[in-house]
Amino acid sequence: MECSGKVTPQLMMAVGTAVIGSLQFGYNTGVINAPQSIIESFYNETWSSRFSEPIPESTLTALWSLSVAIFSVGGMFGSFSVGLFVNRFGRRNSMLMANAVAFISAVFLGFSKMAASFEMLITGRFIVGLYCGLSTGFVPMYVEEISPTSLRGALGTLHQLGVVIGILIAQIFGIESIMGNASLWPLLLSFTLLPAVLQCVLLPFCPESPRYLLINCNEESKARSVLVKLRGTDEVNEDIQDMKEESQLMVREKKVTILELFRSPVYRQPILVAIMLQLSQQLSGINAVFYYSTGIFERAGVSQPVYATIGAGVVNTIFTMVSLFVVERMGRRPLHLIGLMGMAVSSVFLTIAMALLDQLRWMSYVSVVAVFCFVAFFEIGPGPIPWFIVAELFSQGPRPAAIAVAGFSNWSANFLVGMCFQYVEQLCGPYVFIIFTVLLLGFFVFTYFKVPETKGRTFDEIAAGFRQSAGADKYSAAEEFNTLRGDDPDL
Ligand code: GLC
Repeated sequence: MECSGKVTPQLMMAVGTAVIGSLQFGYNTGVINAPQSIIESFYNETWSSRFSEPIPESTLTALWSLSVAIFSVGGMFGSFSVGLFVNRFGRRNSMLMANAVAFISAVFLGFSKMAASFEMLITGRFIVGLYCGLSTGFVPMYVEEISPTSLRGALGTLHQLGVVIGILIAQIFGIESIMGNASLWPLLLSFTLLPAVLQCVLLPFCPESPRYLLINCNEESKARSVLVKLRGTDEVNEDIQDMKEESQLMVREKKVTILELFRSPVYRQPILVAIMLQLSQQLSGINAVFYYSTGIFERAGVSQPVYATIGAGVVNTIFTMVSLFVVERMGRRPLHLIGLMGMAVSSVFLTIAMALLDQLRWMSYVSVVAVFCFVAFFEIGPGPIPWFIVAELFSQGPRPAAIAVAGFSNWSANFLVGMCFQYVEQLCGPYVFIIFTVLLLGFFVFTYFKVPETKGRTFDEIAAGFRQSAGADKYSAAEEFNTLRGDDPDL
């Protein structure tokens, strides 16, 4: 195990620069929430001027849902392509190159109004989704690979902190008096340009991942000098040793393709865990809140829905910080379990509040509190953990393919919620969140039985645990993870 678990300025600079990509993902997740009705009016005007009649209600719902959800389709493609870049160009240069996609998206989003084209806006959302899909693969991979073992969880959570701060900035910028108004919304959407420029300026000063240098490029001396800077000490032999062990494993593993992840008994279990954790994050219903909360609060009788949405963003940020400080102490499993259960209970309260709203007006306050608790519990575990745990579950060989598969699962589920929520809500009315309650309970059970603790283990140790349990396949499936879980003092 590495002993050099120090937070050095070089490490923070590298992590801080990388998570600008996370910020972009959060920003573009949250940006379409507040200005929904203003951009819908633009759709209506554009439609009327083209077809000389107002846009039919159902077409508007469809177009808006598409504008929201096509972002995740872009994300699906982007996340799936991660493997094409990271081993060829390196982790850092992949992040650098991805910014070109962000620039293009900003042009589409920024000029859609001038061109009176909602098609351009929808295309821009797809392109920015592509960029964010790439980022959700590149950033956690880079951060996990440059972090010392003892800080991997905390620094991995910084990806999610970047996401939530991005959401919050978008919510605040979306206030009518700032940019969420009829004239400035194109600027609001194309703001993504600025963080992209900033990241391009800073990335050249950040090091390449030492794991990539040593394991993929066989450049031990370069890897060593990067590590010395990142760790702030010359004593990096343990890190180097750890990488060499991973490297030997990789030689034996050769190149692991996506198909092999599912075929090989060694990877089948960790990839299932990785996919289920991603699904638990998205099918928890979190983005029903972050895409549509203004509408949800409006229907719940809240008089200032935009401010309630910002409140959700603030709670979101605070609890991500809580997770940041406790994740290395409590471990991943307990936090994920607490988060899922807390969300399930909050969604029951939200449903009760929505159902009783007509009889009891004060239920609107209960619904706000329930949404805030829902978000808070999300950030305790299901928000940050799935993003970084995938990099932990796999060693260097299968890692890019695993991150691609996990990212694709995450974005597909994100798409499903973004696209269907408004329709299902029309169908189920106040009971819509019960669907999420059921799913959350299912994921709780899965996590309890199947997810191992990864806290404090090197990548190699974690992979060895899975190999060992795959070898024990012939015994019972329930025993598979006991070796790993048995080591967890918290459970
Ligand atoms: C996670 C999810 C993202 C969601 C965000 C909310 O990063 O991946 O979809 O919007 O959390 O904080």
